[in-house]
Amino acid sequence: MPNLKWVFVLCLCIFINNLCISSCTTSFSPDPLAQQQLDRVFALPGQNFSLSFAHYSGYVTVNEESGRALFYWFVEAVDDPFSKPIVLWLNGGPGCSSIAYGMAEEIGPFHIEKDGKTLYLNPYSWNQVANILFLDSPVGVGFSYSNTSSDLLNNGDNRTASDSLAFLLKWFERFPQYKGRDFYISGESYAGHYVPQLSQAIARYNSARKEKTINLKGYMVGNALTDDYQDHLGVFEFMWAAGMISDQTYQQLNVLCDLQPFIHSSKQCDKVLDIASNELGDIDPYSIFTPPCTTSSSSQNRLVKKRWRASWFTCDWTDRPAVQFKSSLE
Ligand SMILES: *[C@@H]1O[C@H](CO)[C@@H](O)[C@H](O)[C@H]1NC(C)=O
Ligand SMILES: *[C@@H]1O[C@H](CO)[C@@H](O)[C@H](O)[C@H]1NC(C)=O
Ligand SMILES: *[C@@H]1O[C@H](CO)[C@@H](O)[C@H](O)[C@H]1NC(C)=O
Repeated sequence: MPNLKWVFVLCLCIFINNLCISSCTTSFSPDPLAQQQLDRVFALPGQNFSLSFAHYSGYVTVNEESGRALFYWFVEAVDDPFSKPIVLWLNGGPGCSSIAYGMAEEIGPFHIEKDGKTLYLNPYSWNQVANILFLDSPVGVGFSYSNTSSDLLNNGDNRTASDSLAFLLKWFERFPQYKGRDFYISGESYAGHYVPQLSQAIARYNSARKEKTINLKGYMVGNALTDDYQDHLGVFEFMWAAGMISDQTYQQLNVLCDLQPFIHSSKQCDKVLDIASNELGDIDPYSIFTPPCTTSSSSQNRLVKKRWRASWFTCDWTDRPAVQFKSSLE
């Protein structure tokens, strides 16, 4: 199977939704500011360094009737957080945890050593330049949950957006010092749906009230899943423009894979994807200017292995009783 198919299946969902859901014994404080203080994290299991920034995590109930609560982790900027914008980060999947993947393996400050026990500080963390809010969304993903099991089967983009909006409105009540702060939404992969749809929900909410309750300034998606047409157009043009596939292969891709779904493509399209894959060679399509991580013969296997290996030690850490205990308290 060609590795191009995997470009948009970026996130092998980390199934911590099954492995790591804790029984929730949360008692919510009626006072949002008091809850903010309860959410403050002072130390993490496996953390043997001190920090120059504050971080918080906890639950926000987004629907009382069904008992839906979303889990967040908020990391303040390293320097002068009160002058910096807030960036909401959403992983895709659908089903991928923004905390176990986005925060712990991509853009967050705490990364996990291969031993699955120890943390280290990621020098490239986005909180070097902004306050970052990681949200596990929708319910069923990561530590976010619903007390109504059927919710897990009928999550959809619409409810995901409205639950996330409900989350943000309540979150700003808990963190009033951030109200009115410049706010950006970013994410990757299936968040190509979550990000613009949440942005639209916020814009509608603001315009209905004629005020900027959430001061949305912009949004950004990387490796975004949009639709089959746009996604093919984008990937093929990128590969071709970077000189990774030939003119002829580029033309064939556009003819034979046009409007085809990535996951269930036709045999003809698969064939030309294979050709493109061979031309791509040992280049990691996610990071074309860096050396590939392993020398495994198949690029696709390489990708899958890399993702899984990374995921296991994240799950080792998120499965630790001390981590579970922490999230069940919040
Ligand atoms: C923290 O733990 C790591 C991994 O065990 C070790 O390499 C590092 O030296 C430790 N740092 C401190 C400050 O103890
Ligand atoms: C879910 O149910 C548990 C147990 O009854 C309760 O403690 C918790 O507050 C409920 N969660 C929400 C979001 O309502
Ligand atoms: C969800 O769908 C309803 C009805 O189609 C629409 O009115 C509402 O704005 C949607 N919500 C969001 C957050 O997009």
